[in-house]
Amino acid sequence: MLYEHARLASLRLGCEIRRFAVEVGFRMTSKKVAILTGGGDCPGLNAVIRAAAKTAILEHGAEVIGIEDGFEGLVENRWRPLPYLAVSGILSQGGTILGTSNRANLFKYPLEEGGKTVFKDVSRKAVENFKAMGADVLIAIGGDGTLTVADRLRKLGVPIVGVPKTIDNDLYGTDQTFGYDTALSIATDAVDRLHSTADAHHRAMILEVMGRNAGWIALGAGLAGGGDVILIPELPYRLEAVCAYLRKRRDAGKRFSIIVIAEGAKPAGGDVVVRQRVADGAEPIRLGGVGFKLQEDIERCSGIESRSVSLGHLLRGGTPTAFDRILATRLGREAARLALSGSDGVMVGLRGSEIVPVDFKDIAGRQRLVNPDHHWVQVARSVGACFGN
Ligand code: F6P
Repeated sequence: MLYEHARLASLRLGCEIRRFAVEVGFRMTSKKVAILTGGGDCPGLNAVIRAAAKTAILEHGAEVIGIEDGFEGLVENRWRPLPYLAVSGILSQGGTILGTSNRANLFKYPLEEGGKTVFKDVSRKAVENFKAMGADVLIAIGGDGTLTVADRLRKLGVPIVGVPKTIDNDLYGTDQTFGYDTALSIATDAVDRLHSTADAHHRAMILEVMGRNAGWIALGAGLAGGGDVILIPELPYRLEAVCAYLRKRRDAGKRFSIIVIAEGAKPAGGDVVVRQRVADGAEPIRLGGVGFKLQEDIERCSGIESRSVSLGHLLRGGTPTAFDRILATRLGREAARLALSGSDGVMVGLRGSEIVPVDFKDIAGRQRLVNPDHHWVQVARSVGACFGN
């Protein structure tokens, strides 16, 4: 009992000393950590920034700065200090206080010259600016585009620790990315809401969700929401199989059906539906519209009245779930610890219940897609879901 009192008192004293140290600007290390967020935004980015900055300040007494708009800010030398108060109160906020950009490949950077867009390698400029900021290490929070650029940049002399983010959940080297759980909750809520209107009108309601070439959001929402048909990129579908399944449901007395389709889903032997082609983006194409195409196809092949809705960027907006906040906080804390202990060229990942460092070279060029035999696919099949194949 006495020992416990003494332990708590010493912990409290430790906290007080640290708080005092932070308030008077005392630094236990002379290191400076820079943080940036790159690529598409995702719920939990602010939670990572907060955790990384607080850990760096409170545990190490380091100085933290934030680079604005991802690598764009590094090229244009836009950054600001991130003291303790700047990262306080942002845990539950969506978006990113630093801003982001998914058009900032330093090795193929779009510049306006004579009224035309030209692409140049601006990596040297980025390195120069980083050195001029006086930063020792960069924490890059981003998806595969950001981490690929980060890996090349570090070979030019910028020490980097990565934090994987994406609602798509398709990054190799981590069991789950933060942002996915939030997107999944939003998509599941949409599936729930579609049930009543589908039932009232005896229709097939189609929900299109993002995910690029991965079907994690569609599969998860289909399973969690009880979708009747789940169409994902990893399992190309046959329209005839989908229509036969819908007719069978109708004949069995089920007067409505819910279809969850990933934006990257495609028919066997067919191609994805491209919404837009982009010259200066990290991705050469933007997916979107497969749900509307499927609606027309289903009406034509089955005669069942259908409607389609696409969630789009709603999946990326708003406050992160408790799961994502915890994961993001754990990742941010570990990233700061690694960055300040001299690590370079590693990303922090979730492996089982542990946060572990993963070498950039082990993740380069790899994507974590849904295995067609994944347990979730098998479970959905067992409870009657159709994958259209
Ligand atoms: O990678 C995240 C993601 O939301 C994908 O699911 C989607 O295809 C893409 O980004 C959309 O990107 P943008 O913000 O450029 O429209």
